[in-house]
Amino acid sequence: FSYPIPANEPVLNYAPGSMERATLKRVLAELKKEEIDIPMYIGAEEVRTNNKRSLHPPHERAHTLGFFHFGDEQHVKQAIDAALKVKETWSNTSWETRAHIFLKAADLIATKYRAHMNGTTMLGQSKTAYQAEIDSACELIDFLRFNVYFLTEIYKQQPISSPGMHNRTEWRALEGFVLAVTPFNFTAIAGNLPASAAMCGNVVVWKPADSQVYAAQMFMRIMKEAGLPDGVINLVYVEGAVLGDVCFSHPDFAGVHFTGSTAVFNNMWKTIGQNINKYKGYPRIVGETGGKDFVVAHKTADVDVVVTALARGAFEYQGQKCSAASRAYLPSNLAEEIKHKLVAEVKTMKMGSVEDFTNFMGAVIDEKSFDKIKGYLDNIDGTKAKILVGGKCDKTTGYFVEPTIIETDDPLYATMCEEIFGPVLTIYTYDADKFEEALQFVDSTSPYALTGAIISQDRAAVELATQKLRHSAGNFYINDKPTGAVVGQQPFGGGRASGTNDKAGSMINLYRWLSARTIKETF
Ligand code: SER
Repeated sequence: FSYPIPANEPVLNYAPGSMERATLKRVLAELKKEEIDIPMYIGAEEVRTNNKRSLHPPHERAHTLGFFHFGDEQHVKQAIDAALKVKETWSNTSWETRAHIFLKAADLIATKYRAHMNGTTMLGQSKTAYQAEIDSACELIDFLRFNVYFLTEIYKQQPISSPGMHNRTEWRALEGFVLAVTPFNFTAIAGNLPASAAMCGNVVVWKPADSQVYAAQMFMRIMKEAGLPDGVINLVYVEGAVLGDVCFSHPDFAGVHFTGSTAVFNNMWKTIGQNINKYKGYPRIVGETGGKDFVVAHKTADVDVVVTALARGAFEYQGQKCSAASRAYLPSNLAEEIKHKLVAEVKTMKMGSVEDFTNFMGAVIDEKSFDKIKGYLDNIDGTKAKILVGGKCDKTTGYFVEPTIIETDDPLYATMCEEIFGPVLTIYTYDADKFEEALQFVDSTSPYALTGAIISQDRAAVELATQKLRHSAGNFYINDKPTGAVVGQQPFGGGRASGTNDKAGSMINLYRWLSARTIKETF
């Protein structure tokens, strides 16, 4: 089986009058009319319970999209059993057969269900059409196709043989089941975490974030339509603690593929460590966690590049990308001009329902998130920081937080160091002649190391930043925003408190779901 390097799925622009816009509008209207009843998918069963939870668009709390059936400990156990039952058959299924299922799913999303993937992501997660398109259509399709390509290349890797001796690597799936725990903010990540492990021949229990169930079940249904055998991926909705209790104490637990908060990931490590004697092997623990992503401008920076990097980097999808710019270091010679232009830009940003395609921003994901962000804005320490623009929060109709810029003269100020996960950017102005000191702040004032950007027209400054910030970000951008990694082009992931840096959408990640066996035969 051979598969050439795929092309990235082209991003449709949903311009007024375009076919894709008309289709998406129609699907959005249909989705809003239907009150969907979403089961868990365990083995061949669609499982319904007495514990139904409702789904609402974050930008329109009063509207009910439907209900999903919440499970408990028993359902997690059933999901593990269903997974283990098909383990042998699935891991023995030829690579060609497996690959075709995932390629078929990619094609189904690209052609038949694009508007459904985007529509459920827009309504469920409050993404604009463009933000949904680059996520639940393009990035998800890219993950599926590129991972097929990467895995095909991995399978080709074989050791040296010699006369009388044949050596071979068998790229086995892990022994046991893999747990995928996925976030609300990217439908592509939510789909990729179970799919990439399954692609490698593993069987998976998948728990999405409650606030992402709407698009998650759509992807699950597409995988089934593409021919994924029952039990290979089992989709459950349960409390995280219940999931952890059952999965992390199970002898067949083989690994976890996680994207979410640093605190939850840290707890997983501890629990897995405490249970280590229960397992057959050492579980793979792969996670992408928090971020406090930076943009540092040099005194030679192109001001417009800085403004665009910050405006888009900080406020697209309401700042809820793990890669979102949330702290900026501006040189004193340019700071006033940058702030002036950036504030003017922010004032043009329209916020509201994402079903109105003229809006640039929707609502933040839920009440908990809204309250957390509001808490930061309500408690600004006036002696150290002030709000330059924005700051208002209103949850009357939806969880709306204005795009907000805070300015501080303290590089250690809370909003400069802590992850907020909302449309809040904090700016610190440094002495333009003390660039190295600014780099020192960038590197040392936050525990995270996910993404970051340097904006400069001076090559020496770029080199210096690249070197000094070697471990400050897993994805480092020069003269660009720190968001929007494209599969196959910028493998994504960070170190330090941001995760295990097993680059999503790359061979590095796929190796984690494989366990090589070396076979030597003499004759
Ligand atoms: N891959 C996304 C980005 O780069 C974040 O998860 O923005």
